Amino acid sequence: MSAGDGAAAATARAHPNIALVKYWGKRDEELMLPAAGSLSLTLDAFATTTELRLDPDAAEDRFELNGEPQSGERLSRVSRFLDLVRERAGSPLRAVVRSRNEAPTGAGLASSASGFAALATAASAVYGLPQDPASLSRLARRGSGSAARSIVPGVAVWHAGDGDDSSFAEAVDAPELAMVIVTVDERQKAVSSREAMRLSARTSPFYAGWVTSTEESLAEMLQACRERDFTRIGRITESHALRMHAVIQSSEPPVRYLSPTSIAVFDAVVALRERGVEAYSTADAGPNVAVLVRPGDAPAVAEALAGFGRVRAVGAGPGAALLPADAARGGEP
Ligand code: DP6
Repeated sequence: MSAGDGAAAATARAHPNIALVKYWGKRDEELMLPAAGSLSLTLDAFATTTELRLDPDAAEDRFELNGEPQSGERLSRVSRFLDLVRERAGSPLRAVVRSRNEAPTGAGLASSASGFAALATAASAVYGLPQDPASLSRLARRGSGSAARSIVPGVAVWHAGDGDDSSFAEAVDAPELAMVIVTVDERQKAVSSREAMRLSARTSPFYAGWVTSTEESLAEMLQACRERDFTRIGRITESHALRMHAVIQSSEPPVRYLSPTSIAVFDAVVALRERGVEAYSTADAGPNVAVLVRPGDAPAVAEALAGFGRVRAVGAGPGAALLPADAARGGEP
């Protein structure tokens, strides 16, 4: 049994990405259009592997995450996403979705980005939707904005676009980049990024300035990437992250994602720079810190930051991809 031109089942794998120019705020919630463009590095670690299998007899979708059946908001988010896929494909068929994350869910390691990138890729194959990268990126965006960028390998720019058709991510030429991920806390964050960015847009007096300055930072970042200017890429990365956290903290009621340990990591990275090691910090909607480095500096920076939490050096990763049927059957971890 298949839907459209698709297969009965497919398995896809995608990796999270860490933004160097952040996405924080939407101009259209329904279409998931961002208030400004953003730019990220897709990682080669913490992958999500997702199998989607049609279930012709089922009345509802099912969603299993790391072997646990999901209900409530997690299930309905997947099911609403599949409703959009079914509407486009003209199919009524429900699905069983089995997902495995190699990173802790909800700890600011962007598991919704790898999750929806993998789901968009598997669902497009099964329901027979277009599978070119731009179409996959536009579809993944509807699940989670940052997922649009995880379709793309390496450095990706997500264009704010004029509407649904033009808001997708694509690859950007850039120097070789690596990151040291410092996991200071693996617990699920108290306020989701979706909720907190809504709050920032509604209540922060700095939000309008954030949006216009993000467009400027993005233009500057694209130029720095083209010129392969690592120092400029790093400086923009760190200052843009601090600006995002300033906007988040200026919301009403305030939200604070960075913990004292996160701040200590930012300070340690400044101290590394003073000793001549070029490293730059960023953090998403959580306390964990990602430190941008040249690949050759990753081992030394990882060693220097090991006292703050679990450290892991990562490089540029591949875009979302279907797994060959045999690899999928072999059982991912
Ligand atoms: C801080 O993509 O998780 O990681 O679009 O509402 O699903 P939704 O939000 P999400 O937000 C990511 C925010 C961020 C910055 C970034 O990745 O650019």
